[in-house]
Amino acid sequence: MNTLINILTENVSNAFEKCGYDKNFGKVTISDRQDLCEFQCNGAFMAAKQYKKSPQIIAAEVAKALSDDKMFKKIDVVSGFLNIITEDAFLTDYITELASDENLGIPQAQKCETIIVDYGGPNCAKPLHIGHLRAAIIGEALKRIASATGRKAIGDVHLGDWGLQIGLVIAELSERYPDLSYFNGTYNKEQEVNFEVTAEQLNDIYPFASKKSKENEEFKLKAQKITADLQSGNKGYLALWKKILDVSKEDFKKMYDKLNVHFELWYGESDSEKYVEKLIEILEDKNLIYNSNGALVVDVQNEDDKVQIPPVIIKKSDNSSIYATTDLATILQRQIDYNPSEIWYVVDNRQSLHFNQVFRCAKKAELVSKDTNLEHLGFGTMNGNDGKPFKTRDGGVMRLEDLYSTVYEKAVERLKESEFGKVKNIEETANKITVAAIKFGDLINHRLKDYIFDIDKFLASKGKTGVFLLYTIARINSLLNKLEQDDDNKIIINNIYSDTEKQLLLKISLSGEVFKSSFNDKAPNYICENAYEIASLFSNFYNDNHIISENDATKKQAWINICLLVKKMLIKHLDILGISHVNEM
Ligand code: ARG
Repeated sequence: MNTLINILTENVSNAFEKCGYDKNFGKVTISDRQDLCEFQCNGAFMAAKQYKKSPQIIAAEVAKALSDDKMFKKIDVVSGFLNIITEDAFLTDYITELASDENLGIPQAQKCETIIVDYGGPNCAKPLHIGHLRAAIIGEALKRIASATGRKAIGDVHLGDWGLQIGLVIAELSERYPDLSYFNGTYNKEQEVNFEVTAEQLNDIYPFASKKSKENEEFKLKAQKITADLQSGNKGYLALWKKILDVSKEDFKKMYDKLNVHFELWYGESDSEKYVEKLIEILEDKNLIYNSNGALVVDVQNEDDKVQIPPVIIKKSDNSSIYATTDLATILQRQIDYNPSEIWYVVDNRQSLHFNQVFRCAKKAELVSKDTNLEHLGFGTMNGNDGKPFKTRDGGVMRLEDLYSTVYEKAVERLKESEFGKVKNIEETANKITVAAIKFGDLINHRLKDYIFDIDKFLASKGKTGVFLLYTIARINSLLNKLEQDDDNKIIINNIYSDTEKQLLLKISLSGEVFKSSFNDKAPNYICENAYEIASLFSNFYNDNHIISENDATKKQAWINICLLVKKMLIKHLDILGISHVNEM
């Protein structure tokens, strides 16, 4: 479905052409002065320069050419501006079409391109902590925005499962259980090893081993050796690694599911190992790789760089792969498997140098085509109330699970004491409120900005919060139930009775534009703002018009239809943000 702005632009452009001017001057935008008009076109000013004529005269000609167009109620010419007010019937027709459009008016990409979204990125054998929250929330939303606008979006968790952290855990296990066949060279695939490890144990072992490696050089070397051996196929280590991986994955999945974060692919760095040889072959063929103190590296510095960009290390001197190796080999793998037109990396801003190096190397080696967009979509820090990175009371990094429970407990408390205490399924509702509060509280900020994690603010039922949106949907639902209205009613809007209604319908009709820019700018916050504005305008509309007691049946039905539409729209917005709604609250 075409966006409202496009339709208006088309008609105004045609009028410019009809008057003998270039079509391109007909661009219509939302008015800067909502008190004067709904839309405006400033093209006459630009045309004035080209045609050496006064903007006022050009605008007047164009307005005259549009005077018979049924789309417009009024076009005022103010100096050279065209101030536009649309006809109600035009708007209601557009809204009626939007309501039955399967994409609810979200414009669809011309070509269904494949976009791989690399987000999540937790490291096996380590628990999910708050440092993993933003990547999960933003990545999931961006992926859904890409799908909603007609792309094939594939989310990949890209587990950290092949680096030193695994070597550290295996090294520590080898000291605690030296007799296991994984370590003593007697490992045999046919024989079940009597050893189980839980996620909780791993979560303790990793920090212990990591600390030990910093204090104990011998242990550190052992862990490095184990990492290199694992990567070159040591069977015992591989078997133990697989066990650790399974336990970790299951643990991650549980938490991600709770947060309504779902990955299409559960690949890890290790899955790229089989492409490393090919990667090196390509780099050799293109004469890009050379030996530097025993390591294999590729230069990525450009002549016009103002800062130093260090070479990418492809193989360390002990032949082990590192972070850049697996990322490059993964690009090769993704290219072969999916031929994507874009790969997005939703990863903390602090990794920008790494991605800069990796992307430069990938382009130089032509692992992807020149126009494949490799993009690092960074994000800012989540801070505590003191404005510093969020910490637990004793200064540690908070586990995601603990953060979730803290919000959940509060949500339950609020539900119990609220006027909506009658909610049937408190647990399910509180879970949804928790997710809405956490995610919306994050996504309402531009992703590059830092923000303060403020539970009480996020759980407020008024203001720019996920809870306000859930509440609006629940409120509409309760009204629809009272009026015995069915969600599947065909939504037809053919009249506008009040001013608040018109504002609400205009806002809804412009949503397509918002989704489009939110894709272009990779900015889920636009969708949050739009949802909030729709809900606020709905609130005005609802307070102004007494739907239940309305005697005029046609009017009443029109208003009910607006309620149905707002509900549909808000659910769609939330779904794209990765937030599920509740039916009652
Ligand atoms: N595991 C990495 C880390 O903890 C994040 C992975 C991000 N994705 C990527 N393709 N490098 O820093």
